[in-house]
Amino acid sequence: MSDIILEANNLYHVYDSNQLDGNVVALRGLTVEIAAGEAVAVVGPSGSGKSTLLKALGGLMKPSAGSVFLNGQNMTRLTGAELVSLRQRTVSFIFQEGNLLPDLTAIENVAQPLKHAGVRDKVARKKALEMLERLGIQGQAKSYPSTLSGGEAQRVAIGRALITNPRIILADEPTGALDPITGRRIIDLFRKLHDEDGVAFLIVTHSREVSSFADRALELRDGRFVAQHKHGVTDAELQEDRELIMDETGTLSMPPDILTQLGGMGRFLVKDLTKDHLTMERVDDEKLEIVAHGKMQLTAKCPACKYDYGDTEDDQCPECGSSRPSQIQGAK
Ligand SMILES: Nc1ncnc2c1ncn2[C@@H]1O[C@H](COP(=O)(O)OP(=O)(O)O)[C@@H](O)[C@H]1O
Ligand SMILES: [Mg+2]
Repeated sequence: MSDIILEANNLYHVYDSNQLDGNVVALRGLTVEIAAGEAVAVVGPSGSGKSTLLKALGGLMKPSAGSVFLNGQNMTRLTGAELVSLRQRTVSFIFQEGNLLPDLTAIENVAQPLKHAGVRDKVARKKALEMLERLGIQGQAKSYPSTLSGGEAQRVAIGRALITNPRIILADEPTGALDPITGRRIIDLFRKLHDEDGVAFLIVTHSREVSSFADRALELRDGRFVAQHKHGVTDAELQEDRELIMDETGTLSMPPDILTQLGGMGRFLVKDLTKDHLTMERVDDEKLEIVAHGKMQLTAKCPACKYDYGDTEDDQCPECGSSRPSQIQGAK
């Protein structure tokens, strides 16, 4: 195995909400590994948790539960200063828009992460100018963000992200607000960084072009990865090359179109089961019997918000609304 640049285990995230409909569980036990130099696309409908995932993976937001390892270090355990230093050396973000500091010029924006890392002003400015040249916008070095076009501003933001030589770039719909030509230039640049410099990417995207440069795509639904695709895909191509994902608790979430084709929810008889192979057949009978199984038990605490279920048999957390998983007795 090549080394792992980013790893997340069993991530949960709950947003507190004041509204009557209660808290929002945005991530539900999500596990992922990105190898050094790998480019992975994340696809999924709006509200499925893509932006929340990226923020949790990059250490911009602490997940409610679960761990994130960046370059082998457990970010969820680091102190503020250690976390800042690890992030500065390893990861950069590119968002759809609004990446730039409005009171700094283009060159100052690009130089700023270096200055933060303690690089002398003159050296930082020189490197920033080289970066603007590489991106073809050195002519705008002294312009303020409000006077730049969308494409120029995004290239400055990318320069800012690249100036620290990150090992992984987390990008949230980075070309979403750009015209197709500017978008293509940016993807060409990403491809080059990926192919020639071994930079890893985790990119949220709806665009065919962006996803075409990814080594694989993960399909996110309702805070869980439900499937993986061997190539980048767009939302419209999700049926292609789809591998369903089962996690270590045995949970398999069906993407909605597969569930529909299968005929909807229900009970299934195990017809043929050997290692790596399972055939199931729907049971027609409508009666639902739950058979107690000695080895499985409901978890004692909510994995998302740590609510203690006590002696109850609730299957949903009264605090945060997460579903209550079962686990094999003795598992931690
Ligand atoms: N700051 C927030 N406070 C409360 N709920 C939020 C917040 N940000 C996102 N959410 C909710 O979390 C879920 C996932 O959101 P998000 O990660 O933005 O999804 P995506 O990027 O896939 O559209 C959605 O239901 C959204 O409404
Ligand atoms: Mg989003």
